[in-house]
Amino acid sequence: MSTRPYYIAGNWKMHKTRAEAAELAKDLVARLKGGKHKYLVAPGFTSLETVGALLSGTNILLGAQNMAAEEQGAHTGEVSVLQLKDLGVRAVILGHSERRHIYKEDDALINKKVKLALTHGLEVILCVGETLDERDAGQAEVVCETQTVWGLAGVSAGEIGSITIAYEPVWAIGTGKTATPEDADAIHASIRTVIGRLYGGGAANKIIIQYGGSVKPDNVSLLMAKENIDGALVGGAALKADTFAPIAAFAAGQPPAVS
Ligand code: 13P
Repeated sequence: MSTRPYYIAGNWKMHKTRAEAAELAKDLVARLKGGKHKYLVAPGFTSLETVGALLSGTNILLGAQNMAAEEQGAHTGEVSVLQLKDLGVRAVILGHSERRHIYKEDDALINKKVKLALTHGLEVILCVGETLDERDAGQAEVVCETQTVWGLAGVSAGEIGSITIAYEPVWAIGTGKTATPEDADAIHASIRTVIGRLYGGGAANKIIIQYGGSVKPDNVSLLMAKENIDGALVGGAALKADTFAPIAAFAAGQPPAVS
């Protein structure tokens, strides 16, 4: 069981109109009130203002799912860090596998975004994870290590406290296949070792490493019971309060609730 504070985040991806997002946000505000862990939701850009107003003064942080690598300028269709901050965004998810694989974002671009977000005082959730082919080839650890090292290039020791790493094996995202708690913990441990090499033992011990990939109410407790798993980045199950609230309220080390 992790000795670090748990951090549970919901990535709403490209779902929900403003009205639907507001309904979910209101429900979560009521149901996560008094919750023991750190919480964040990342709605689509078009719902940030609406959801941000509902989260203001609550224990749920407002996050964005991506941002441009440039501060501002002629970048049609992009969203800038300044625009996100203007809406009260506190954290940004960067390097999500859908950005890497569908939209071909590479480590250099992701690193530029990470540094820009930190410069502007945003927290970052940096996603890393291997594909099934890479796992089958025995490359899972090295892929995650490479993505971590590149993603954090130029990030100072003073900034590492604003970074959360999310290990999201690509083959587990939206597929219903979850990494076993043991397999996920092994990758988390190797990422923690990388952080130790780069920033020292204190930073390695402190950094929050979330697991993402088909996290559900019935598997969250066993995942969180592992020493190196400090939270979850949740996709599908974050779209309904009935599934996100029990994930947010998990008790580490407890067997899954019988439904
Ligand atoms: P699922 O929980 O739907 O597998 O998605 C995980 C994810 O990509 C969160 O960022």
